[in-house]
Amino acid sequence: MRTSLPSVDRPAHRTIPLEEWLQPTRAGVRIHSFFMLNEMPISASIATSLRPPMTMLGLSAQAIDKMVWLWYLYIITSNVEQIPRPYMDAFHHPRPDLADSIVKRFTEDPIFGGLSGLHLAAPRRTGKTTFLRRDLVPSIAAAGKLPVIVDLWEDRSREPSDILRRRLAQALDSLKNAAGKALDRSRIQRLSVLGFSVGLSDLQPFDGTIPEALERIAGMARRDIVLVVDEAQQALVSEAGMDAMFALKAARDAMNLREAGPRLYLVMTGSHRAKLAELVIGPKSPFFGGTVQDFPVLGRDFVEAIVGQVNSARKGGAQVEIEDALKAFDILMHRPEAFMSALREEIFAADLSGAPVRASVRAEALRAATWADLGADLESLSAVQRGLFEAMMEASDEFTPFSAHTLKDVAQRAGIASISKGAVQTAIKVLVERGLVWQPGSGRYAVDNLDFLDMHRRKTSLR
Ligand SMILES: Nc1ncnc2c1ncn2[C@@H]1O[C@H](COP(=O)(O)OP(=O)(O)O)[C@@H](O)[C@H]1O
Ligand SMILES: [Mg+2]
Repeated sequence: MRTSLPSVDRPAHRTIPLEEWLQPTRAGVRIHSFFMLNEMPISASIATSLRPPMTMLGLSAQAIDKMVWLWYLYIITSNVEQIPRPYMDAFHHPRPDLADSIVKRFTEDPIFGGLSGLHLAAPRRTGKTTFLRRDLVPSIAAAGKLPVIVDLWEDRSREPSDILRRRLAQALDSLKNAAGKALDRSRIQRLSVLGFSVGLSDLQPFDGTIPEALERIAGMARRDIVLVVDEAQQALVSEAGMDAMFALKAARDAMNLREAGPRLYLVMTGSHRAKLAELVIGPKSPFFGGTVQDFPVLGRDFVEAIVGQVNSARKGGAQVEIEDALKAFDILMHRPEAFMSALREEIFAADLSGAPVRASVRAEALRAATWADLGADLESLSAVQRGLFEAMMEASDEFTPFSAHTLKDVAQRAGIASISKGAVQTAIKVLVERGLVWQPGSGRYAVDNLDFLDMHRRKTSLR
């Protein structure tokens, strides 16, 4: 619900100042106090100016105050609702340059253009979804194209093709509702962002084909579409999911190979590089010929922004050192959430003890706890299974478990004289069953949980 007061007509994603964020338990209460502080003077001055004419109408001063307060309460409650929940306590570091560099690819230029689509991979919890929704979608809209965003991890128990169909139907629906109104940039942006406040189960899947849906969307919007599929590798879990990917490819070809008309640009992101690669490698994969690129994780500028703000909010308190914070961020695998909570805990502890802030020490402790959990999963493995898992983690993309070289290597790691192909085969089966190794097809293997890979790499480089 919107009111005409300029002070409450703020963008859907309000970024909470860092000082507020640093006390997350109070964030909910603070949202109220934030509105109160903003609206209090307005409500008081309105009450004062309303008093004389209303008193002339025979209303008591008390009644007038009560009315103003009710109106004021209504503003507060309607505004608290207006803030999308997932973003309520998020400090956000914007990445406009990255968004622009991706949006620039959406041209028909044969060299720099991205007519065939982009596939971007980065580990879990590094900020892909946040970037897509908060930076990329607005940039796509600003470039005059229609962003449609689908997250295949939105509900992992659901068939990925079903998620796609429901989101496409929703995009069509919102365009229908907007029919007749000029589709300006701000409206496009609102359509694509507000779309996410609706749960999947409240949506009807589109009942035609996926290319039909996309053609219709482009026709109604009368502009190019950028379809962003987040966690696209989830399509691999089912045949229908893969069929949906083939349908996207068919739609892309139909729309991009014709002479004129709106184009379809596809952006797919994934948390597992090898899995995402299954969509582009091999002649039988839907986007054969494409390549998976690394999605750039947050780096120095993110850490500097946070440290700068924390330090200026803590003038007089122990300061955070940038190099130490950078080290902590790296230890925590460039995961903003983990980094920020380590920083928060460390600042809290330092304030209590009076010791200097050492975020990297806390990060190391957190990592040690994670490694202990991961290590426990490996404990029950036999020496051969463990040796094989290690060999796989150290191998480059192409791991050949039955080659003479690997057999020798695994035997050595297991501390035995030699090992047969059969024994390796059995060991692989166990690793797959235990969810440590992922096997997309015969002869292809990848480490399933990339945290193991990171732990192994770092431990071996520490040695
Ligand atoms: N640019 C950013 N600034 C601040 N926090 C961020 C940023 N990007 C991500 N985060 C935080 O990191 C966490 C993980 O982000 P998310 O986008 O869900 O990662 P992914 O999609 O890669 O798994 C979230 O809690 C999010 O708030
Ligand atoms: Mg995500």
